[in-house]
Amino acid sequence: MRLVNTRYVQEGSVLARPVINSSGRVLLQSGVRVTASYINRLILMGYDVLFIQDDRLEDVEFHLAITSQTREVAYKTIKNVSSYIESGLEGSLVVANVRSSVQHMINDLLFSTDILGNLSEIQGYDDYTYHHSVNTTIIALILGIASGYSEQKLIELGMGVLMHDIGKIKIPERILNKKTPLTEEEFGEIKRHTINGFDILRKNNDFSLLSAHIAFQHQEKWNGAGYPRGLKGSEIHEYGRLAAVADVYEALTSKRVYRKAMETNDAYEYIISQGNIHFEPRILEVFKKNISVYPTGSGIVLSNNQRGNVVKQNRAFPNRPFVRVFYENEQPLQIPIDYNLADYPSLMIIAVDNR
Ligand SMILES: [Fe+2]
Repeated sequence: MRLVNTRYVQEGSVLARPVINSSGRVLLQSGVRVTASYINRLILMGYDVLFIQDDRLEDVEFHLAITSQTREVAYKTIKNVSSYIESGLEGSLVVANVRSSVQHMINDLLFSTDILGNLSEIQGYDDYTYHHSVNTTIIALILGIASGYSEQKLIELGMGVLMHDIGKIKIPERILNKKTPLTEEEFGEIKRHTINGFDILRKNNDFSLLSAHIAFQHQEKWNGAGYPRGLKGSEIHEYGRLAAVADVYEALTSKRVYRKAMETNDAYEYIISQGNIHFEPRILEVFKKNISVYPTGSGIVLSNNQRGNVVKQNRAFPNRPFVRVFYENEQPLQIPIDYNLADYPSLMIIAVDNR
């Protein structure tokens, strides 16, 4: 199984993973042979990459960070909360459902703590907000688990991150999905989602006030350059500091109607470069060690001009996975070579190439 940029997928290739939309509906089953018209439709729907069967990579295992079922429950929870709020029932947010959804996520993550899973199945354009909230929660929980958080703290963190963008519900779609630069007034409106979210969440007595602060503070930056209050350093609660890292990483690696997704390695580099600027250095140390940089199956080019795919994550060295190479200087090798990049310090991944 390997990741192939949809534009390079050949007619007749066999899907190794199902194509699923964000409500969990299967659009194409794994095992389906794709036709030119499927490929074109998937491109239009925003599916940039597909998992394709490849005999040379039959042994590659695919692990999802959380099960499809847990993800579906999380989506439903956010949808329910959103529709409650839209109908003006702000005080009756279904806190118990949010808590139980987060508990499922924590259990899934703890269960697979020895491997770094892919964050999710591949994604198209639809329902960005749900997708973003769930993936940001996964990343935040991974960072929380790696920081040694108690179960209580993980639940507080997860509940706040799952609801961190709930204030966006009041922002018109035309501003959220605007393809041209925002006016100052529109940006002001976007900024208010933090305050709105905090106000919605704190009206619920069962919702921890610390969790609600994640909605309030996730756009604050370590150096004080964020919003809404321009807090800096330890003025920002640790949940807010942690959520900020997860939020930006997820947003960069997701595609939006108005821009392409950044490759995960470029987003990783960007996040690391913001240590002591936008983000707390201590959290970045945890991030570096616990977030996989190259999704399993992705195509990579090595510094020795060999090209192949990631076959397994390396728990101890997320940016140095196990790879299998098939080409050297673009000529096919007679026998593929497997590397555990952790054992080859001089060998670097220099590019992602999902052909
Ligand atoms: Fe946000």
